[in-house]
Amino acid sequence: MPTIKKLISQEKLRQQRTLMMIPSENYTYPEVRRAVGSVLMHKYAEGYPGHRYYQGMRFVDQIEKLAQERVKRLFGVPHANVQPYSGSPANAAVYFALLKPGDTIMGLALDHGGHLTHGYPRITFSGRYFHSLQYRIAKNRPPWFDFTQLARVVRREKPKVIVVGTTAFPRRLPWKKFAQLAALVNAYLLADISHVAGLVVAGVCPSPVRWVDIVMTTTHKTLRGPRGAILMVTKKGLRHDSKLAWKINRAIFPGLQGGPHLGVIAGIAIMAKKAAQSEFHRYGQQVVANAKILARELKKRGWRLVTSGTDNHLLVADLHPLTVDGKTAAVRLEEAGIIVNANAIPNDPQPPFRPSGIRLGTPALTARGMGEKEMVIIADWLNQAVRSNDNQLHSQIAQKVKKLCRQYPIDLD
Ligand SMILES: Cc1ncc(COP(=O)(O)O)c(C=O)c1O
Repeated sequence: MPTIKKLISQEKLRQQRTLMMIPSENYTYPEVRRAVGSVLMHKYAEGYPGHRYYQGMRFVDQIEKLAQERVKRLFGVPHANVQPYSGSPANAAVYFALLKPGDTIMGLALDHGGHLTHGYPRITFSGRYFHSLQYRIAKNRPPWFDFTQLARVVRREKPKVIVVGTTAFPRRLPWKKFAQLAALVNAYLLADISHVAGLVVAGVCPSPVRWVDIVMTTTHKTLRGPRGAILMVTKKGLRHDSKLAWKINRAIFPGLQGGPHLGVIAGIAIMAKKAAQSEFHRYGQQVVANAKILARELKKRGWRLVTSGTDNHLLVADLHPLTVDGKTAAVRLEEAGIIVNANAIPNDPQPPFRPSGIRLGTPALTARGMGEKEMVIIADWLNQAVRSNDNQLHSQIAQKVKKLCRQYPIDLD
């Protein structure tokens, strides 16, 4: 039996030698990894800074306050809770703060790019404990959604919370139009910017802060922080409901969670400082530039892309023209040293485990310093590997991938 130590070092090598192209993954900073694994994990701190249920808070209170202040400044919001363990409990906390079981929520369907926690029916807490309505992408150009039809549904069903956010949608979301929709029935509007938060703070993706009541983001995707999440209340949210910040805090602790993960909170503080720097702005710009080049190059090679391109860090390829399903393509790519995930396309006729598409992202490649030249090469490898079932060809590409990775090393110590 291999030891855990050995398996971690093998995983490290895997991450160094392959192309990480799952859009929700990224490399965080060594300082963040050290903070997460630091002595902070020994400490319990139920409650919030200044109002704890334990002693020994002198330093950890300062850490949490610093994280809150930096996050507030970074996103321009009056309230931030940095305690959510991850994105799913953060979304759960919003619902528990604002809804009773059986109340209506509205979120984007999974195969149209939404997340499981946005009301996916039957098997998720959000679809089981609440009455969930799923909306869909209805147009092939902005604003992407049919707001006339959505307005009819909203007036009829009166959702209490509307969730807007995506896990596999390559375009900008029309925040103002969703704000107008929510206003029809005085619904709370939750922006889940888990995927694009890094692009928002880098100024390359529109911020929802002006338009919504609550913003949730995970901290480990384009933000490049530790695995965690943040819940923010906007000025608009406080005008809508003066108790909103209090409700969110109460829903996280004691409503849903116990002691916060203080190492992660320290990691969030480090991430927030880095994300405010001009170097991070350049990183965000390059992430989007790289995704656009990848889209252009794949289209040149006969690929069909959902919405026919991208404005952010990811692409969703509809593999029908390549006559291969998403799972087969993802397995072939793994053999070639390129790690992606199979993904549903809108109105996918195929089941979720063998969907018709794959999802590709540029955040981690860009973190390694790759740019336009590398995207052209990678598009070619993607195309060759997906179209062929020849294992030898896949191994040859994997060797080339390893060489490219050596030219763009990433510090994983
Ligand atoms: C849009 C969105 N919301 C929520 C989540 C859930 O985050 P976590 O996996 O940290 O629970 C994700 C994760 O992929 C996501 O993409």
